[in-house]
Amino acid sequence: MKGHRVSSGYILVEKSQPLVGEVKLSGAKNAVLVIMASLLLTRGKSVLRNVPAIADVYDMIKILQSLGAQVQFDATANIAEIDTTYLHYESLDQQAVKKFRASLLIFGPLLAQFKDIKIAMPGGDAIGARPVDYHIKNFKKLGAHVFQDQDFLYGVANFFFFFRLILDYPSVGFTENLLMALVLTQGESWIVNAALEPEVLDLIAVLQQMGADVEVMPPAMIRIRGVKHLKSIDHTVIFDRLEAASILIAGAITKGDIFIPDAQVFNLELFLMKLSEMGHEIIVGKNGQGVHFKSCQNPQAVSFKTGPFPGFPTDMQALMMAAQTVATGSCSVVETVFENRFLHVPEMNKMGANIQATGHFASMQGVSCQLYGADVKATDIRAACALALLGLAAQGQTRVLDGVHHWKRGYETLDEKLRSLGAKIELCSF
Ligand code: UD1
Repeated sequence: MKGHRVSSGYILVEKSQPLVGEVKLSGAKNAVLVIMASLLLTRGKSVLRNVPAIADVYDMIKILQSLGAQVQFDATANIAEIDTTYLHYESLDQQAVKKFRASLLIFGPLLAQFKDIKIAMPGGDAIGARPVDYHIKNFKKLGAHVFQDQDFLYGVANFFFFFRLILDYPSVGFTENLLMALVLTQGESWIVNAALEPEVLDLIAVLQQMGADVEVMPPAMIRIRGVKHLKSIDHTVIFDRLEAASILIAGAITKGDIFIPDAQVFNLELFLMKLSEMGHEIIVGKNGQGVHFKSCQNPQAVSFKTGPFPGFPTDMQALMMAAQTVATGSCSVVETVFENRFLHVPEMNKMGANIQATGHFASMQGVSCQLYGADVKATDIRAACALALLGLAAQGQTRVLDGVHHWKRGYETLDEKLRSLGAKIELCSF
């Protein structure tokens, strides 16, 4: 059942047969949230399709409503109608902003529109310090006065200089915030060393549809020529590559055979290459549309290192580690994006995995059939999923504690989809 199912609880998983069948994907969380924020740049009624009914979307709706937007969300049809005709800033719901990291993405559009703002410091997954210093440093370079205290991020910008801004690191969140701040800034601006994740490209497609003059140029640059007004849009959000990866890992862990017609290969290339290096068969549809996964019986462990797109996504790191746990041999994992994203490692070890992690580096030995169910604790969305998927290969029952809260932030009905393939997985409340 779709809809707002926010609750606490645990994910209950039992060893399952090989998962077999076909699955449809939901819309991408990391695209829809920033696209919803970008509507603050427009006036009028926009329609977003393929909007996943996940907790973070409901929180973003609360934020937009507190800013004066009228929002109708049909969770069954996955269509959100968002009318931004009468926006105001004064009653921003700072409690909702605090709840998740993507709320930081209202900073750019609000600064461009309202000039003198403060937003609560955003929360989100426990995967590292997640500072906002790039946002502060680089908005300052554009002439804004931006600073933070313990609770709030403040911005005052009566104007922006147009600029050639070179990023030290292709931060996804900052590239998106900057883009949204600059599309209404007169003159020509450049973002050099920009993040070009598929979700950033979906945002750019939306801004272009609004009438913004934005162009991606090699190598990793975005040119923005400011326009005076942006219009409302009708847009279909891209499918969730992270949900696709989660389903494929479920297939790898259970030695399954799964077809995902919505998966777009160009958004998953390095991930699919690693599955293929393990020995799994990946059959790609015409023009890179659709992935058919057939597990090999004796997968080999492969090493990987996360990095900005088109590198190996940090959001797929815990998932891929779960797949390495049931492979033969040893491998290493390097996490370069976040400094504290191995919190799932001790939990996987409680289930019989053999992983040593220090700092950004982990080494692991496949343990094949020796996994057993345990009570483990999830600390973020992808860790919750990785631990639950590992439970599909472990003897007995696994309970992922705190798992439901994280799961519902990122996955619309993945539990139902996995059950339709034969998985024994339930979201339970205490
Ligand atoms: C990151 C991922 C994105 C993923 C999302 C959710 C990358 C490059 N980005 O995006 O793909 O979907 O997490 O898991 O893979 N940083 C600072 N100061 C800042 C901003 C960021 O030090 O002001 C650091 C972060 O702590 C992190 C790195 O830069 O170590 C990348 O951050 P960024 O891309 O901004 O993070 P998200 O936008 O959350």
